[in-house]
Amino acid sequence: SHLRNELHRHNRLYYVLNTPEVEDVVFDSMLRRLADLEADHPEFFDANSPTLRVGSDINMEFDQVAHKYPMLSLGNTYSEEEIGEFWNRTAKLLDEPFEIVCELKFDGTAVSLTYLNGTLIQALTRGDGVRGDDVTRNVKTIKSIPLVLTGSFPSEFEIRGEIFMPRNGFDAFNRLRVEAGETAFANPRNAAAGSLKLQNSAQVAKRPLDCFLYYMLGDNLPSNLHSENLKRAAEWGFRVSPHHKLCKSPSEVFDFIRHWNSERANLPYDIDGIVLKINSIEQQRRLGFTAKTPRWAVSYKFKAEQVATRLLSVDYQVGRTGAVTPVANLEPVQLAGTVVKRASLHNADIIAALDLHEDDVVLVEKGGEIIPKIVGVQQDARSGSNKPVMFVAACPECGTNLVRVDGEAAHYCPNANHCPPQVKGRLEHFISRKAMNIEGIGAETIDLLYRNHLVDDVTGFYRLTHADLAGLERLGDKSASNIIEGIKASVSVPFERVLFAIGIRYVGETVAKKLASALGSMEAVRNASYQQLVEVDEIGEKIAESIIQFFANPENQKIIDQLRGFGLQMEITKRVLASDSLAGKTIVISGTFVSYSRDEIKELIESHGGKVGSSISAKTDFLVAGSNMGPAKLQKAEKLNINIISEDDLLTLMGIKL
Ligand code: IVH
Repeated sequence: SHLRNELHRHNRLYYVLNTPEVEDVVFDSMLRRLADLEADHPEFFDANSPTLRVGSDINMEFDQVAHKYPMLSLGNTYSEEEIGEFWNRTAKLLDEPFEIVCELKFDGTAVSLTYLNGTLIQALTRGDGVRGDDVTRNVKTIKSIPLVLTGSFPSEFEIRGEIFMPRNGFDAFNRLRVEAGETAFANPRNAAAGSLKLQNSAQVAKRPLDCFLYYMLGDNLPSNLHSENLKRAAEWGFRVSPHHKLCKSPSEVFDFIRHWNSERANLPYDIDGIVLKINSIEQQRRLGFTAKTPRWAVSYKFKAEQVATRLLSVDYQVGRTGAVTPVANLEPVQLAGTVVKRASLHNADIIAALDLHEDDVVLVEKGGEIIPKIVGVQQDARSGSNKPVMFVAACPECGTNLVRVDGEAAHYCPNANHCPPQVKGRLEHFISRKAMNIEGIGAETIDLLYRNHLVDDVTGFYRLTHADLAGLERLGDKSASNIIEGIKASVSVPFERVLFAIGIRYVGETVAKKLASALGSMEAVRNASYQQLVEVDEIGEKIAESIIQFFANPENQKIIDQLRGFGLQMEITKRVLASDSLAGKTIVISGTFVSYSRDEIKELIESHGGKVGSSISAKTDFLVAGSNMGPAKLQKAEKLNINIISEDDLLTLMGIKL
């Protein structure tokens, strides 16, 4: 426990106070020593051990938990005038002097943390304000959030704050995503919110997340002043922003707003406004709430910055699905701290709505998104002879005439099998994790394989030789062998994933599963009539038409025949039951297990005839409680009088002895 405390302390020095006392390697070796000790002494398990910061590979579903105090949002204001109104309204309601704390409005995602006797016991997202997702395990991986507190604090309290991704971390992380062929996040806010909802906390641990705390709740708070409570929170180990100001008049508030409106470009993270809070908690209580927002706080939102510049030309980019996106090339101009050269125009309707002409002077705006958008045209700066911007008629990549489906905004290139970015997109989809799961090939390798004519369509993977791969730049002998192994292994990937992998438009993972279980084989899907298709659960007109169109193309038929020749699974494999010991039983599993992974446990239950339920209800027969199970599930199970059994009990039921 001494080692744990030391690690908590160094963690805080490093991540919260930015004043590390020891070298990283020293910290790492202490952490490893603790991990070894914990492995040897499971009896000393501690849910808040510093070793749990690395996260775990076990997947989880989030429990929904009611907030002790509802998580409301703030009323927005957009002008000094509105701030003045807020001030006057408050003065009238309180009828006594008051102070306002101005804070930065961090642009991330809100969390509410509960501490019991100085340890973090629960972290909830906002959810619908009344109930939130229990993201405790993910939040524990965020290094600037203390797992245990120092000093003297109330035995139980909640503290709320914003989880965000600093800009440099976001840029680096997005770059990695793009290199791996994944889609980039539009802004740090989405990246933070998305990360917090990841199923795998080990993945969350790798994301550069940070957190500022800005509001404390509880029965025994240290002070009646919000500003004092924040100060104390910082002493206990929380990261609290130093940028706040106590204001006694509207003009002091305006100074703060004006200062940060320009200074925010120099912060290492995004803020989208300023939050004003009445400092006295007693006064906060008297002011109370409207249905949606507190009367004791309000936000001021910064205006998106705009600048005028000239339109030089419009490019058309063909995406992996064949959708064509117009992109404006602009005369480079400084905007919100960066040089803007390009802006997305989204689609033909947007171009028409802007009435965009060649050479126009356009108004560019940067909101929360990284890619700025064109929000207007200066009509009076236009000379009479400029022509309107016309959407391209043919695909800039392959020359095929573009099509536009009625009711859809996007233009598409219909040449799915031969338009280069589309072919590469299909190849990437084919090998992706949820499809054929062929590891070791990234977007760059696909590009090389395609450019060197080694793989023109998905069948090409199964013709690759070790020599083909080893001959490519930057691919070693070892990686080549691994890829070949991966391709070989993929022939046993189950049929529903093959059906997903071949890339029929609108046939995602779930639809593929439904089709596979309803129709049973590739031949049956290929020969199914429109009527048969729409009768399958979840298959609508659009999907049915897309399937028929796909199989009507002789080229696709040939590809499928060749894949069959290479030995890929073209029909479902019937599950052979190991026993029927769990027949008719619905079983919910929760927490983490010792002998098997969650997926393996699910497999086992099904192979013994049981059904795996996703949430506890009156129909649940057993709840299998692993370690680390959320308290909400346990409570619910107890309330419904459901049999709670251990991992060992379950194995015994199935007749498995370890
Ligand atoms: S106080 C009841 N303080 O803005 C009010 N919120 O629009 C509690 N936010 O949901 C919120 N920075 O996610 C507060 N310094 C700050 C904030 C802040 C960002 C977010 C928060 C809230 C949203 C409201």
